[in-house]
Amino acid sequence: MLKNLNNFEKRRTETSPPYHKANSNKVGRSGSLLLFSLFSIVSISANQSLHANDDSHYRNWETVGGDSGITRYSNLDQINKTNVSQLEVAWTYNSGDAGERSTIQSNPIVVDSILYTTTPNLDLVALDAMTGAERWRFNDSSKAEKGPDTNQGQYYGLNRGVAYWSDGDDKRILYSRGYNILAVNADKGKLITDFGDNGRVDMRYGLSRDPQFVGIANPAAGVIYKDLFIVGSRGNSPGTVRAYNVRTGKMEWKFNLIPEPGERFADTWPEKAHLKAYGANVWSGLSVDVENGMVFCSTSSPKPDLFGWQYPGKNDLANSVVALNAATGEYVWHFQEIKHGIWDLDLPAPPMLVTVERDGKQVAAVAQVSKTGNTYLLDRLTGESLFPLVERPAPPSDIAIEQAWPTQTMPLLPPPFTRQEVTLDQLTTLSPEAHADAVERFLETRNGWFTPISPKGTLLYGVLGGAEWPGTSFDPNSNLLYVAGNNLPLIIRLDPVTGEAANGAVTFSTTCTMCHAIERLSGTARRYEPEALEELLENGRGNMPSFAHLGDEAINDLVEFLQIDPKEDNKEPVDPDFVPQAYTFSGFTKFRDKDGYPAVKPPWGVLSAIDLNKGEIVWQTPIGEYEELAKRGIPPTGTPLFGGPTVTAGGLVFMGGSTDEKFRALDKETGEILWETKLPFGAYANPSTYEIDGKQFVVIASGGGGKNGTTSGDAYVAFSLPRAF
Ligand code: HEC
Repeated sequence: MLKNLNNFEKRRTETSPPYHKANSNKVGRSGSLLLFSLFSIVSISANQSLHANDDSHYRNWETVGGDSGITRYSNLDQINKTNVSQLEVAWTYNSGDAGERSTIQSNPIVVDSILYTTTPNLDLVALDAMTGAERWRFNDSSKAEKGPDTNQGQYYGLNRGVAYWSDGDDKRILYSRGYNILAVNADKGKLITDFGDNGRVDMRYGLSRDPQFVGIANPAAGVIYKDLFIVGSRGNSPGTVRAYNVRTGKMEWKFNLIPEPGERFADTWPEKAHLKAYGANVWSGLSVDVENGMVFCSTSSPKPDLFGWQYPGKNDLANSVVALNAATGEYVWHFQEIKHGIWDLDLPAPPMLVTVERDGKQVAAVAQVSKTGNTYLLDRLTGESLFPLVERPAPPSDIAIEQAWPTQTMPLLPPPFTRQEVTLDQLTTLSPEAHADAVERFLETRNGWFTPISPKGTLLYGVLGGAEWPGTSFDPNSNLLYVAGNNLPLIIRLDPVTGEAANGAVTFSTTCTMCHAIERLSGTARRYEPEALEELLENGRGNMPSFAHLGDEAINDLVEFLQIDPKEDNKEPVDPDFVPQAYTFSGFTKFRDKDGYPAVKPPWGVLSAIDLNKGEIVWQTPIGEYEELAKRGIPPTGTPLFGGPTVTAGGLVFMGGSTDEKFRALDKETGEILWETKLPFGAYANPSTYEIDGKQFVVIASGGGGKNGTTSGDAYVAFSLPRAF
């Protein structure tokens, strides 16, 4: 039996005040008229949603996340604690289009015994969910082509699932590929020609920027509310949530997450931020409260990442959970996790809609996990925290031009499910040499809770999780939330600009790093003639937008910078009196030992169960092992996790995500691992479970690649019990 981590580091010294009582008669911070009018409707119907867990709506997997609240819960119980050890492969589907660095992150949906999902190339496939046989396959031949150098292919090659909508015989699948939203006939696998432009809507249009300069993609599955397909996006333009008419593709509403002049919260951003900054975007997904007509999204940091002097202020709506009226896109409330977010600590997963118990009453809430390892529990109607929060002083920046926000919020409950700052006592003890080396590097850096990025290098957790995009699941019977988390420290540094190609370096850091890492791009760029590179930057190509708006001089500087081999670029020593006005950023460096293991003590990847009624961690289990360490007798360390849990009435939590390419089932009450199997490739996605003709299946994408970088593959693997069951 696997030993759980029962002595989670205790870092909270305060005695916790009693929970805030959810005061449902208060309008909360927004005070808007809209909320008043909404409120009279919601207070009645909120009760209806409380009982949703005992109907058939948890038996299928018709939406990404299992239901529109993204709870990833199923009330199927044929596969249970006593028989899970007998699970066997029911079918494997190979799509045949894996690339060298491709991945699959889609959470398959199942409607009327047909499974819909995407392949590494983002072809859309319909499979017989019983046998895995391909019904049809749709390959989009539009311009959105794949860039070999793109950062995880995220401007093209990421899709985390598709949405299904129907009206009588009109059945549609909607999903994103590159900058397009596609509408495909669910029976035939053909584009629906009366949607948008022959089946496609180009998301570069309808923003506050010239479309030719917009690079955009939408990795998360869009959500359906009535006849609307509601989506976020990521890219080099200000974040928006947009709702498109499912029938016509017409944009019905848009909500700006970097406010335009005159819009709410514009005073927390610099003037013209909507023209200059970007980010505050919704790449992690959305959830819908159908009964109450609300849509919830979680937003990223403002961008360019780390360059906070380009967007001074509190930056409301960034790093936030935002609740909107699903029919109109009007603001209802928001909860900001991080003020002036200068760490790339985007909210990584969609808000999850849950019902919890408070003082014997059922309260509709929103649970949001973060890269900082926190779990926020918010009243669904008002956005008020149901657990106590405190405001703590946060350290200042040591960069003259950066104004870090003087305080940040700390939730007192639940405890963090991953570490929040690197401390000396956490440094690796795998060997004395590794320890000594880690201590030396630790002492060179800045570190600590919300320490801004420094020219010395800042050592921090969070950019690779805390929680990651596969998010949470929730058991409505026990009110336990399940979340995978990483304890993976990084060193991030901002270098003052001095050298010859300084201007180009700054432009690169602010306009290119969102899609390209310098180490990766510089070699490729040096293979281009300067003229060809200039032309590429002026015209763009495929999913790379044009950068003509930067002007000739900036483009020349960029080209000059890209000709330099970073390995041979000896920086001049910095004059101590020099006050830099610009910085560059050369990427995130993993804080690892010489063997490549994180240079902190395990667990490196851990699944946690958190009681949302009490705000307590119930159990934690490391997920994933390194064979070499296991052979040395070291207990399971967990590995970086880029996969998420699904919980069932059968008493199980299914979980992939580890670099050992295994798929596991845990006892949902104790965290004990009851079953595991090796998949053909790493499963960096969320599993789905469904039933056909009395038989329960669990299916997961096995596509490798992604941030875990194991061998890329092309499989979906479905499991069920042998016939005897
Ligand atoms: C919105 C994402 C995005 C941004 C921002 C972006 N690129 Fe790209 N880049 C791409 C994509 C996608 C491709 C692949 C294009 C294709 O060939 O289809 C690409 C290709 C390239 C290539 C060619 C790589 C090869 O293998 O031939 C170069 C060079 C390049 N980009 C440089 C830059 C520079 C310099 C910047 C900053 C000014 C930049 N890019 C900004 C997405 C982006």
